[in-house]
Amino acid sequence: PGKLFQFKLVLLGESAVGKSSLVLRFVKDQFDDYRESTIGAAFLTQTIALDENTTVKFEIWDTAGQERYKSLAPMYYRNANCAVVVYDITQPSSLEKAKSWVNELKRQADPNIVIALAGNKSDLSERRVIDTETAQNYAADAGLLFFETSAKKSTNVNELFTSIARKMPLD
Ligand code: GTP
Ligand code: MG
Repeated sequence: PGKLFQFKLVLLGESAVGKSSLVLRFVKDQFDDYRESTIGAAFLTQTIALDENTTVKFEIWDTAGQERYKSLAPMYYRNANCAVVVYDITQPSSLEKAKSWVNELKRQADPNIVIALAGNKSDLSERRVIDTETAQNYAADAGLLFFETSAKKSTNVNELFTSIARKMPLD
């Protein structure tokens, strides 16, 4: 029997970037074209086997991106071990918002928090306005993991969560 590690993970980002959709894909391997905006926050868990000796269980807080819920976010990120900050590759404002969440996490969250930046909706390539390199350079400068994802097409969703799991302290 191997070891089980548990980590608290928080998702942050502007409303409608696809936070809940990424979690739904990761946890249930499903996607809805018409997802309702999250109210408050949602809690889900998912377990990943990294190898035969190492299992990582994520306790996931999927926060609400609407501005009126902004004041709740610290409750969810305060004791988080890892965070996924999501933007939408078709919405420039969402990358600015993602950067502001990253800054807030660096100021207020656990100093050892592992942060990943996810550029979601990569299936909408014809509507892309944020190029990969711009976001990748920002992520490298800020010390973040970086993936472009599609919750809809299931692109890079498992890779995102698995790479976070591999960056966690596993000993
Ligand atoms: P809040 O809960 O309001 O913060 O929004 P959210 O970030 O949780 O977004 P949500 O997952 O509810 O998705 C918003 C909309 O984007 C929904 O209509 C989804 O179907 C759609 N969507 C999410 N991910 C993708 C994706 O990868 N590709 C495409 N094309 N649409 C997506
Ligand atoms: Mg949501």
